[in-house]
Amino acid sequence: MSRYLVTGCAGFIGWKTAELLLADGHEVVGVDDLNSYYDTRLKSWRLEQLARYPGFTSFEGDIRDEALMAKVFAAGPFEAVFHLAARAGVRYSLEQPKLYFEVNTLGLLTVLDAMRASSGPRKIVLASTSSLYAGLPMPFKEELPVNTPISPYAASKKAAEALAYSYHHLYGFDVSVTRFFTVYGPAGRPDMSPLRFCHWIYHGTPLTIYGDGLQTRDFTFVDDIARGAIAAAKPLGYEVINLGGGNEPVSLMGMIHAFEEVLGRKAVLQHEPENPSDMRHTHADISKARRLLGWEPVVKPADGFRQTAQWYLDNLSWISDLQL
Ligand SMILES: NC(=O)c1ccc[n+]([C@@H]2O[C@H](COP(=O)([O-])OP(=O)(O)OC[C@H]3O[C@@H](n4cnc5c(N)ncnc54)[C@H](O)[C@@H]3O)[C@@H](O)[C@H]2O)c1
Repeated sequence: MSRYLVTGCAGFIGWKTAELLLADGHEVVGVDDLNSYYDTRLKSWRLEQLARYPGFTSFEGDIRDEALMAKVFAAGPFEAVFHLAARAGVRYSLEQPKLYFEVNTLGLLTVLDAMRASSGPRKIVLASTSSLYAGLPMPFKEELPVNTPISPYAASKKAAEALAYSYHHLYGFDVSVTRFFTVYGPAGRPDMSPLRFCHWIYHGTPLTIYGDGLQTRDFTFVDDIARGAIAAAKPLGYEVINLGGGNEPVSLMGMIHAFEEVLGRKAVLQHEPENPSDMRHTHADISKARRLLGWEPVVKPADGFRQTAQWYLDNLSWISDLQL
């Protein structure tokens, strides 16, 4: 049994990562500022699930707070740190670029410095994003030069990857940068299409589809992502690794039909012309994750979408008035 730190433990991926570690008998210390970027009842629900495990403790506060991070690391030593706290929405980063840099880059710096000051191991799994590949040729491979991020969010993640490299070089940190591709699942983020679509289909609210709805995304189920992050906690030096759905990109319409079936309601669709700047398909090359981590996504989209919509139905008592 080991002890791990999960930053952003009330977030979508942080919660699932913490849960899998706890279910495996490990101890998890979490930290999250529970900010209101989206409906905080989702964060409370996730924390309630984690609180069922005696091995879970958490701190409420900001990763940019040096005194707090010293306290958090005093609760170690940690076998590894899963750094999942971040400002994660692409669109909102256009409104708040400074906030994104403060949290995603300076926040990481605060975590790295607190880690350096502690006596524990220096292993960090850093959450990064497929958004870095926008505009580059597919399938997206880790070696592509991701030097042209097209949003402050992507730029802040690129900066975070670079900063982690310098701590690897200077101070011997062992870093796994995991680039996630469109993560979905139960208790997902309400700023992303799966949960919004369930909500709108259930309520008969029109969904706007740009183009024919056949554009595909490399959707990856949250349990697969969390397993991949945990597999990446082994010693690797410094590696960047894609964690994506692999060979089964799914169309938006495919996802909508899967939700309709479980929710027992038809989506009301509004069609708008396709935006030429939208990517038609996204597709991860995951051969490196296979090779280095022995990782493969195992949850088929049909099953993952069913679980997502079923979770919505099971939580109707509070999710039905979800704030979007
Ligand atoms: N969900 C995806 O599809 C996706 C794709 C690529 C990368 N990522 C990355 O994965 C990580 C987790 O994303 P997620 O989808 O779980 O997002 P999320 O917003 O659900 O989780 C992030 C958590 O971090 C917390 N947080 C934010 N700022 C903080 C701060 N200053 N101090 C302490 N806690 C703070 C939030 O309250 C939230 O609970 C992020 O780094 C994100 O950029 C996610």
